[in-house]
Amino acid sequence: MTLVNPRSWILDAKKEGFAIGGFNANNFEQLQAIVRAAELENAPVIVQISHRALLYLGNGNEITGLQYFADMAKRAADNADAPIALHLDHGTELEATQAIALGFSSVMFDGEKHSFEENIAISKKIADLAHKMDVCMEAEIGAVPKPDGAALNEADLVLTDPDDALEFVQKTGVDMLAIALGSVHGMQTKENDLDLVRLEEIRSKVDLPLVLHGSSGVTNQAILAAIKMGLSKINIATQLNKAFTLGVRKALEEKNTLVDPRKYLGQGIDAQIEVVRERIRFLGSSGKA
Ligand code: G3H
Ligand code: ZN
Repeated sequence: MTLVNPRSWILDAKKEGFAIGGFNANNFEQLQAIVRAAELENAPVIVQISHRALLYLGNGNEITGLQYFADMAKRAADNADAPIALHLDHGTELEATQAIALGFSSVMFDGEKHSFEENIAISKKIADLAHKMDVCMEAEIGAVPKPDGAALNEADLVLTDPDDALEFVQKTGVDMLAIALGSVHGMQTKENDLDLVRLEEIRSKVDLPLVLHGSSGVTNQAILAAIKMGLSKINIATQLNKAFTLGVRKALEEKNTLVDPRKYLGQGIDAQIEVVRERIRFLGSSGKA
């Protein structure tokens, strides 16, 4: 299959009360794990790559990173027995524009560092371009912190204002809206709750599929409640990294003479497949391909 625009999946998920996983990959092995899990679960999946992963793949050059990942993901989707979407996660304006040109089927513009007005203007520009090319577009209002291993600075958490969300969707024409409800990126344990009262208020004003970032640190109970209220795309990164790394670590610890990357990375892939499958079932998208 070729890469698929995930817009109709997300709309169906919203209507039927389940969610589609936005699964982050940093390398070929993690991409493979996501695609294999999708095949095993007969589920549609969004494979996504973030700004920082692009820099890693492209050895400091995000456009090179985009090119590598677009090639890998297109080939993986062509060979896959499940529908695969390719999404740019937390992209800049330049990255989003390039990703559309390179065949990504979905892009997110992260306007966190921009003013509200700039975020609207850039998001609209990218949404217009995306729609001309049959690409899905996600933007964000509010801020989900990215502490990257450092202590959380509370000032980095900006919960989404419901009126801003309404104005934003009316002025931009985006397909899905990422909102901040109290989650934090990069957490290794599930301990955060979500502000479901705020979600209810946003939902009463905005009839667009909503996106949760930083889901690895959010309790399952809160995620399930939020899905029922219209969170239709759930982004998952740290949980996958954790599984992959534990698989590799176990392989290396079990045999300290092991030097063949195929063997220890292979165990990372297997460990990650299990977590992706578990998340697909948890979100309710198993069997929805
Ligand atoms: O954009 C990616 C996600 O928001 C993933 O967050 O690492 O907390 O799962 P996470
Ligand atoms: Zn995110």
